[in-house]
Parts: sequence; C-alpha cells; structure tokens
Amino acid sequence: TAGSIDLPNRGGGTVFTLKNNCSDTVWAGTLAGNGPQLGGGGFELTKGASKKLLAPAGWSGRFWARTGCNFDASGKGRCVTGDCGGLKCNGTGVPPVTLAEFTIVGHGGNDFYDVSLVDGYNVKVGIRPSGGSGDCKYAGCIADLNANCPNELQVVDPQNNIVACKSPCDVLNTDQYCCRGAYSMPQTCFPTNYSMTFKKACPDAYSYAYDDETSTFTCSEANYEITFCP
Ligand SMILES: *[C@@H]1O[C@H](CO)[C@@H](O)[C@H](O)[C@H]1NC(C)=O
Ligand SMILES: *[C@@H]1O[C@H](CO)[C@@H](O)[C@H](O)[C@H]1NC(C)=O
Ligand SMILES: *[C@@H]1O[C@H](CO)[C@@H](O)[C@H](O)[C@H]1NC(C)=O
Repeated sequence: TAGSIDLPNRGGGTVFTLKNNCSDTVWAGTLAGNGPQLGGGGFELTKGASKKLLAPAGWSGRFWARTGCNFDASGKGRCVTGDCGGLKCNGTGVPPVTLAEFTIVGHGGNDFYDVSLVDGYNVKVGIRPSGGSGDCKYAGCIADLNANCPNELQVVDPQNNIVACKSPCDVLNTDQYCCRGAYSMPQTCFPTNYSMTFKKACPDAYSYAYDDETSTFTCSEANYEITFCP
C-alpha cells in the first residue's frame, strides 16, 4: 500500500500514514501545535484501515489513538481512552494516551519525532520514517505497558480490563514526578521509579519530561507511517 510514499519527499509536504493494526477499531486524534489541523482533528480507523494526511513544512503536532468510542451520527460521544469530547478533536485528548509527536522541518531543516509516555500510555505506537535521509530510526513503544502498569496507575474499563496506564505525575502530582518547581530543569528532573518502569518496557520512548537523549529522533525529507498496535 505504501508505494508512492517511499519516494524522497522534496518540498511537496510530508505524508503521514496512520495505520490501525490493533484488534479493534480505534479513532485517531490529531492536534496541531503549529499549522493546519489534519484529518479534521479525528477520524475512525477500523481494524486494518489506514489514512494519509499531508502536512506542510513547519507543521508540528501530535497523533494518538482513542479506544472504546461511541459517537452518534453528528459525531458527539465519548471514548474510554484518549477522549476529546467528540469524533473531531479540537484540543488534546484526555490522558493517559501514548503520543506520536512531530516537528516537520524544524531546527536545521530536520524533522523531529518521538513517541511519548509523558502523558501516560493506552496503546502501542510505532513511527517508521520512509524515504528520508539522516538518522531516520524507527521510534516506538512496542511493549504492552498496560500489562505491566503498577496498580495505582491503572485505568480499567467497565469489564475490568486494564485499558491505559496513567502518568505518575497525574496520579501522585508532586513536583518530583511532574518535573515542576525545584525539579523543573533537566539538571534537577531525573527518572523516577515509575518512569524507569516505562523506560524499561519502551527504551525508545519519552518516559519523563527531560528524557531527550534517547527518545528524540531526527530525519530529513521523509514521510512517516504511524502504526497503532505495531
Ligand atoms: C477550536 O478551539 C479554538 C480555541 O479553543 C476555538 O477558537 C475554535 O473556534 C474551535 N474550533 C471548532 C471547530 O470548534
Ligand atoms: C515508587 O516509590 C514510591 C515512594 O518511595 C513508592 O511509594 C512506590 O510504591 C514506588 N512505586 C514503584 C512502582 O516502584
Ligand atoms: C500487527 O500486529 C501483529 C500482532 O498483533 C504483529 O505481529 C504485526 O507485526 C503487526 N504489523 C505491523 C505492520 O505493525
């Protein structure tokens, strides 16, 4: 299916292909930090489905998967994880969600991308660049963190399945876990026992606010495939 997106990307915009490899339908959520809202803010991806989105140079933003959603014909409704109040998001999804984050043609002409667990985790996410030059490594959290989520961070659905894992900041809300106050700088904000659990499961993902060294990836003139449940 990828075919044409493997060609080098030369200024015509960056193609994101969002693919659902989960065992159930997910509803993608998109949020732009800079540039246009992509895909209307959110859309359904049935099992095995994918959708391409085109982003101009300078675009930054994030993608996530919502699970267990029920929307009416007008797009109103709720989701069990990643909810943003309707089918088309206009703002962030409610954490915990695994985020795929991008800055397209940022500093030095590079794209920056990462998978972040700073706002918690709901499903596995992978980012695969294609056709670019530079480092261009696969980034992802391909472990089932729900299965290893500490009790106090678990989110369970009405059937008692663990469907997401909250960030320690959300639950414990201390300066140390949230990298705030005296802990607000890279020199003072360190991994915690919780973020280390996340890091161990997903070594290539952001596990806390200043986890840059091992978690931010760069590539130039690429397109990107974002897979939910790789
Ligand atoms: C989205 O949110 C912004 C800021 O909160 C608001 O100005 C805008 O009208 C909203 N757009 C839609 C389509 O609801
Ligand atoms: C992390 O440390 C805190 C404080 O010592 C402790 O209460 C908590 O049980 C620990 N959690 C894990 C998952 O190790
Ligand atoms: C899809 O998920 C299955 C496991 O459910 C995995 O074996 C496979 O590699 C995944 N495919 C892709 C393209 O990520």
